[in-house]
Amino acid sequence: MEQAITMDGALRMGNLFFLCFAVTLTSWIIAEALYNLFFHPLRTFPGPLLWRAFRLPFVIKAIQGRLAFDMLSIHEQYGPVVRIAPNELAFAHSSAWHDIMGGKQDFAKWDEYYKVQDRQATNIMFAPAEEHAKMRRAAGFGFSDRTLREMEPLIQNSIGLLIRRLRDHCKSSEAYGKVDMSAWYNFTTFDLIGNLVMGESYHCLENADYHPWVRPIFQVTYISAIMSSLGHYPWFKSTLLRLFRPIISRKILNHQAYTRAKLAERMKVNRIDLVQAMLDINRDNEVEMDKLVMNASVLIVAGSETTATVLSGVTYLLLSHPDKLARLADEVRNAFESEDDITVVKVSQLDYMLACLEETMRLYPPVPIGMPRIVPKGGRIIGGSYVPENTHVAIWHRALYRNPAYFTHPTSFCPERFQGDPKFVDDEREVLQPFHVGKRNCIGRSLAYIEMRLVLARMLFNFDMVLNDESRDWMANQRAYNIWSKPPLHVRLSPRSLN
Ligand code: HEM
Repeated sequence: MEQAITMDGALRMGNLFFLCFAVTLTSWIIAEALYNLFFHPLRTFPGPLLWRAFRLPFVIKAIQGRLAFDMLSIHEQYGPVVRIAPNELAFAHSSAWHDIMGGKQDFAKWDEYYKVQDRQATNIMFAPAEEHAKMRRAAGFGFSDRTLREMEPLIQNSIGLLIRRLRDHCKSSEAYGKVDMSAWYNFTTFDLIGNLVMGESYHCLENADYHPWVRPIFQVTYISAIMSSLGHYPWFKSTLLRLFRPIISRKILNHQAYTRAKLAERMKVNRIDLVQAMLDINRDNEVEMDKLVMNASVLIVAGSETTATVLSGVTYLLLSHPDKLARLADEVRNAFESEDDITVVKVSQLDYMLACLEETMRLYPPVPIGMPRIVPKGGRIIGGSYVPENTHVAIWHRALYRNPAYFTHPTSFCPERFQGDPKFVDDEREVLQPFHVGKRNCIGRSLAYIEMRLVLARMLFNFDMVLNDESRDWMANQRAYNIWSKPPLHVRLSPRSLN
């Protein structure tokens, strides 16, 4: 009997404790929401109610890969400056690039967004300003016009292999020319960047498959998207990291060990490529080996998936618009007598091709989301509004480029808008900045254009292409993280006779 009473008492104590906990938690949540809505320094900025009150709606959408899509309708409803979380503003404003990333600006990157794990050596992508400047100088020579010119034979070799492999593929009676072009473009850009950074291709084209070092990069994209979003709940992120440290660390350490070993091999020779200057400086110990390994990984990831995404996007958009495809195919086929004529210098003279690539990056920017910066001490004026210090700010590429305030027929594929067609005279083309602007813009921009132009020209010179029915809606329903999660792009290729 006494025992039953004690049990009953313990149960009641438990219930009481739970009740107190629930009441405290609810009060805390309500108090936080009231503060965010009525007292927070950003309280006057418009935005969806729940997003202004809590960070959670943003995090859920980020994990679902839907933020880049929702941002467009949010801007349409609330205007060019929107509060998308208690401490974050999204800008779809023509002066925002200059105000946030322009040459003299000193907005820091929010490093929780860039780090997958807490103890991680810095790299060029998220190093603090002073260290970044040093790394950027070291990397700069690898991206100079002279180095890029001298790397042309290496680049052409990988593309030549793509063409040969696809021609072979078309001969196979099973395939009848049907290929997943999204995978083949990835194979090409990974092989190419492996060659330009590690001095060795990943042999994805030869094997028609991803190298074991390359495949995990796609898984890591999803993990980093989750980790970036959870950076808003540091206690939760570090608990998850602690729980999964053995798995995550093993994957990352394996990955780094491979890169380190390849770099060590690479250091034994001198050659002209993207990393030679960095290696030379490392010999004088200015950039330590850990950071060199991290920077090599950044070059490989940043320099492959992005370029392959534009190539998949432009192929899809052209094949969905046969009149534009015919116009570009004519431009390419009339410009070159033989494949050997297709050089970096000559492809840069193809005006319609450039217009097609720009229009693809507008509709399908390889980095679709907004990369957060922190407003420095004292606050800043952005897009005409005063924004207090420590606010997170970002420009959401996809949402900005499809905004009718800046582009006529914003959702249509119209390369002509970049060629002076009077229909598009009101377009504000300078808002299109897929490579960002300022000190931390994309260092690989020129290389990306070289790769994209050469691959596209050689594909159109060698093949007639038709979109397979199963890829009709390829661009709809993708998920967008830092990069796109792309489904296969099924295309039917017919090799052209070049005699
Ligand atoms: C169409 C292709 C590409 C696009 C759209 C693109 C876009 C971008 C963007 C938006 C950034 C800024 C990221 C940030 O602010 O956090 C960036 C940075 C960077 N990109 Fe690219 N990228 C492309 C191709 C390449 C290539 C081919 C390489 C090199 C092989 C490369 C290497 C880098 C590096 C190293 C950075 C960091 C630069 C720094 O912080 O100083 N990218 N890229």
